[in-house]
Amino acid sequence: MSPFLLTRTLPEDATDAALRADVLKGLTGTPKTLPPKWFYDAQGSELFEQITELPEYYPTRAEREILVDRAGEIAAATGARTLVELGSGSSEKTRYLIDALAGLHTYVPVDVSESALTQAGQALVEERPGLDVHALIADFTRGMALPDTPGPRLVAFLGGTIGNLLPAERAAFLASARGLLAPGDALLLGTDLVKDEKVLVEAYDDAAGVTAAFNKNVLAVINRELGADFDPGAFDHVALWDTRNEWIEMRLRSLTAQTVKVPALDLAVDFAAGEEMRTEVSAKFRKEGVGAELSAAGLELAHWWTDGAARFALSLSVAR
Ligand SMILES: C[S@@+](CC[C@H](N)C(=O)[O-])C[C@H]1O[C@@H](n2cnc3c(N)ncnc32)[C@H](O)[C@@H]1O
Repeated sequence: MSPFLLTRTLPEDATDAALRADVLKGLTGTPKTLPPKWFYDAQGSELFEQITELPEYYPTRAEREILVDRAGEIAAATGARTLVELGSGSSEKTRYLIDALAGLHTYVPVDVSESALTQAGQALVEERPGLDVHALIADFTRGMALPDTPGPRLVAFLGGTIGNLLPAERAAFLASARGLLAPGDALLLGTDLVKDEKVLVEAYDDAAGVTAAFNKNVLAVINRELGADFDPGAFDHVALWDTRNEWIEMRLRSLTAQTVKVPALDLAVDFAAGEEMRTEVSAKFRKEGVGAELSAAGLELAHWWTDGAARFALSLSVAR
């Protein structure tokens, strides 16, 4: 069997320090916010996989449709020998790319979720003898050192995850993604598209309540890691469409006036009845905007593919 390596690019306690800093800033700010990367412990990653199979959650199916149709073109255009995937999760859709890239030497999945990386990486080395898998536990917003593997390099960022970054974070992220590429290397970016509000809101507020459980999982993470006493039952899941920013916002609404203690931060946080805390934005895109943001980061849009119903887009851009 080919090797499966798992590397932690940050010291063990860096995650802990980052969680403390984010929670302190987010719970003492106005309005209160929490960054979405803390959804993804083992339970959160599992809940996200369940979300991808919900009837309301079209992005995964739409992106898979594009990959099935276009993986051959992506392989021909890039000739990639190293495929790096940021926020790789289960790497499920990535298999279409891996199979199409005939000369692929190494797959580098990058994620904050160690459980997702281990499961996906071990399955891949068993399924694809000859492929090196070098998984990295890393935060893609903080810059990362990639292993020294043969080019050309293709960096994939799928699932519409880029929409979870605020505009300034997105610009910084795209600049750092460009920094991972040599001239001529490529970025494959999945972006969910602006569409009918009802379709969008239902995708983030499913009838079975899986997205609600995913949203509340961040409270369980803070309880476990920082000794907090959040009662997930005392919050409602909220998903709304922000027309001006063209993004979905997920929030947790406090059902009553309550005080939550976070002993590891020596913090007591008051929530008013009805107060909402933002836990995720998921921006939706248009072709012109994506092209402009890529260009500002030194990337040239070369291909733009959508699914048949034009719900989701995959773009391939080349480093100048
Ligand atoms: C919306 S899911 C998408 C998963 C997969 N790419 C897909 O298309 O189904 C986002 C993934 O990015 C990971 N993630 C979120 N924030 C991250 C960060 N700052 N650094 C690294 N991984 C992150 C999560 O653990 C999760 O696996």
